[in-house]
Amino acid sequence: MRRTEFLSTGFHVPARVVTNDDLAKIMDTSEEWIVQRSGIKTRRWVSEGDTGVSLAREASLKALAKAGLTPRDLDCIIYCTCTPDHFEPGNGVFLQRELGITDIPALDVRNQCSGFIYGLSIADAWIRTGQYRRILLVGAEVHSRGLDKTTRGRDTAVLFGDGAGAVVLGPLDGNGAGRGVLSTHIFADGRYAEKLWVDGPGLAHDPYVSVEMLEQGLHRAVMEGREVFKFASIKMPESVGIALAANQLKPGDIKLLVPHQANLRIIEMVQKAAGLRDDQVYINIQRYGNTTAASIPIALDEALAEHRLARGDLLVLTAFGSGFTWGSAAIRW
Ligand code: COA
Repeated sequence: MRRTEFLSTGFHVPARVVTNDDLAKIMDTSEEWIVQRSGIKTRRWVSEGDTGVSLAREASLKALAKAGLTPRDLDCIIYCTCTPDHFEPGNGVFLQRELGITDIPALDVRNQCSGFIYGLSIADAWIRTGQYRRILLVGAEVHSRGLDKTTRGRDTAVLFGDGAGAVVLGPLDGNGAGRGVLSTHIFADGRYAEKLWVDGPGLAHDPYVSVEMLEQGLHRAVMEGREVFKFASIKMPESVGIALAANQLKPGDIKLLVPHQANLRIIEMVQKAAGLRDDQVYINIQRYGNTTAASIPIALDEALAEHRLARGDLLVLTAFGSGFTWGSAAIRW
């Protein structure tokens, strides 16, 4: 069966850089606490006029240009985000409109930090079966407007950032000399749904939005950080092992692991548990914080710009996030 290849990558982040010292001016936190617990030094926040879709458009246009394609060459859009511009419709159609195209499908994926790997799994299946030939897969987030930027929300507010990453995917001709997406594995365990979630507004509430709800802060992401940390540290390396086993590969075969950038300490634990050297793991969380579904495509584009991956190398992706959801992908670049 034909395989899927990455034709190009691109990313875009807002220009506004927010340092830990900037945060310490608006809430009770410190550079030392944030760096020690998360490794994050700066993150980007949107300015007036930016939206998730405007970030996604920039990332998409960069990826399309690198592939020598225009939006008209696409036959499908998959848009992964947990911070949509509107309740409905999903961001996919707004991005489609921004790109000046119509008629092709625009699918929205809501699997938070695992969104990109979930989206890749869908895109890969569609390409392998021949349903679509040119899929734009985007992960884009605007967290900054939703964060509780007071001391009450400091445990999450310091971790998340805004940004967008995009890739263009297409089928390899013939067997592609063993290249392309070798496997994707995606998982979920809804027993932990409330460990990292935004309760409302939501149609489980009647009325679905109210002043009381907003006063209680139900519209803010809340997290049991230690539980998330514990599960991420177990499930991410486990999913790397599953990807390797499915392809009869070993940790030493990995040229580059691009993990979801949630927390430097989590990434270090994943690296140790997966038995990888420093040069096998790509990390850029210092600069962007956790950009959820955007983190893997942003990191991948930066890794490629730094020549960390060449044709024929083994790339492994892994992610973990709210839901809980997690997964991995193995790609012969
Ligand atoms: N600045 C300063 N102090 C902070 C703080 C901040 N930004 N956020 C929390 N604190 C305080 C807490 O209030 C607590 O104070 P107390 O001891 O007086 O009660 C103390 O720091 C320790 O809090 P705790 O929650 O026990 O810290 P931790 O070691 O578990 O680290 C996280 C907190 C959030 C950094 C950590 O749990 C984590 O990284 N979890 C995973 C988060 C994640 O990656 N989520 C996304 C997954 S996709």
